[in-house]
Amino acid sequence: MNEINAKIEAMAQSIMAGRSLFDHQRQACAALLSGRNVLLVAPMGSGKSLCYQLPAHLSKKPTLVVSPLIALMDDQAEKSRTLGLCSASLHSGINAAKQWWTISSWMAGKLRILYTSPERLNDERLRKCLRERHPGLVVIDEAHCISTWGSRFRPAYRSLSEVLKDFGKTPILAMTASAKPAVQADIVQTLNLHDPLSVIVPFTFANLSLSAALTRSVDDRLEFIRNLAVCEDRLPMVVFCVTKKQCDWVSSYLSQNRLRVITYHAGMTMSDRSNASAVFQQATRSILVATSAYEMGVDKSNIRTVVHFGLPSSLESYAQGIGRAGRDGTDAKAVLLYSEQDLDVLDAMAGPELDEGRLPCSKTSAAKEGYDFATTKTCRLSFLNAYFFPATHQRIRSVCGNCDNCHSCQRLAGSNPTQDLMFTAVAAALKNWRRTASRNLQQAAFRLLTDQEILRLSTARPQIAHDLDQLAGIRRSVSKNYGREILEVIRKNMGHHPT
Ligand SMILES: Nc1ncnc2c1ncn2[C@@H]1O[C@H](COP(=O)(O)OP(=O)(O)OP(=O)(O)O)[C@@H](O)[C@H]1O
Ligand SMILES: [Mg+2]
Ligand SMILES: [Zn+2]
Repeated sequence: MNEINAKIEAMAQSIMAGRSLFDHQRQACAALLSGRNVLLVAPMGSGKSLCYQLPAHLSKKPTLVVSPLIALMDDQAEKSRTLGLCSASLHSGINAAKQWWTISSWMAGKLRILYTSPERLNDERLRKCLRERHPGLVVIDEAHCISTWGSRFRPAYRSLSEVLKDFGKTPILAMTASAKPAVQADIVQTLNLHDPLSVIVPFTFANLSLSAALTRSVDDRLEFIRNLAVCEDRLPMVVFCVTKKQCDWVSSYLSQNRLRVITYHAGMTMSDRSNASAVFQQATRSILVATSAYEMGVDKSNIRTVVHFGLPSSLESYAQGIGRAGRDGTDAKAVLLYSEQDLDVLDAMAGPELDEGRLPCSKTSAAKEGYDFATTKTCRLSFLNAYFFPATHQRIRSVCGNCDNCHSCQRLAGSNPTQDLMFTAVAAALKNWRRTASRNLQQAAFRLLTDQEILRLSTARPQIAHDLDQLAGIRRSVSKNYGREILEVIRKNMGHHPT
């Protein structure tokens, strides 16, 4: 084992440009290279892909990666090529000549990583090729799709156990970010993973600040997003919508407000979607408005903000969505806009029960879990860890200190220096705004905003019109006439002092 570890470290040095491996990467790589199966549940953006890329380099054997989304296959194949691994994907978006090249390269032993979908593995011709030339490692990415207990069940994932029988004792890596214990057990059982090493890593989110805001109307939400988007450091941004109709509302509102918008949903053709995702991949100032068709695995490093335009269909879906933000380790925000009526929307969308001979996860109860998360007054990171990793959570129970609820606790305690800094920054910015506005409007400053109002606004720091309207001690005329500008000042100055 020591020899394997030394090889892993040496390879990491040569392909990782000065970065070092995470523990879960070391453990998973070592187990796979010694021929053991691995179940890896580790946070979004924690470098799970490297757990097969590095062994693919070291073992020099061909690796088969099963992946649920075309965009994901292409993205990962591209990333593997940049690590010097000859890689290609096989899916319906690939033309016949390229498919032929891919299969021939695999058969000739020239391809190091082949990405394909579980459905494609039902194709008898492909199965025959793989039987003739076995992979040296099989990876099931986004493995939670195997489970009817999860929210992203894909029937073809279940037949993978049949496919795996063709490969004898080839080690298997099943990996995902979002699998609660029932889903973890289902993955191991359904894939018949013999004696797997389970590497389970709870969420940490050091650079991601989670929050939720109750909204009264669609207009409230649109305005909230616009106000966030015009802040200096909040782009690129992804807005996740539950329906295509919501995507259309958000896209057209933001475009009308002269913001750069890219749309991505299942109603678009495959080539339009792939163009949209390629354009966004390069973008620095754009907003991607997408359904959950986008959320799994996508690795764009510099997304600064993720907004959920309404309750997600489940906490799994929510976790996958927020996992797109801040993958470069720099500060990022994830904001969930919600109302109780969202439950009705999700209820109406819930499909028929699955005919799998056992109870599927109820979509409605999954949505209710999302509502509980939105309305919780406890640390949001802690809430998610209690849901996904109850055993570890019992032991650790850590709080993030960085979500809206942690901030409220700190504000109540009144002893957080960063909060004081934010109070001072917002108060100063509001005074500045009052000075300029009173000059422009030729009105006495106190008529626009009294000192007392500045004090209240700087303490409560409302972020949406609804919260401003509800704030005691603020004259109605103030929120009516200057609400939008005031909210903008508050948001901008909160953004400059992330905690
Ligand atoms: N040890 C490391 N240190 C720093 N960055 C790393 C490390 N390992 C991988 N990365 C980088 O982290 C980014 C995310 O990696 P990857 O796409 O594998 O995440 P993931 O765990 O598969 O996330 P998801 O669950 O969202 O699919 C990549 O850009 C990768 O280069
Ligand atoms: Mg991934
Ligand atoms: Zn917290």
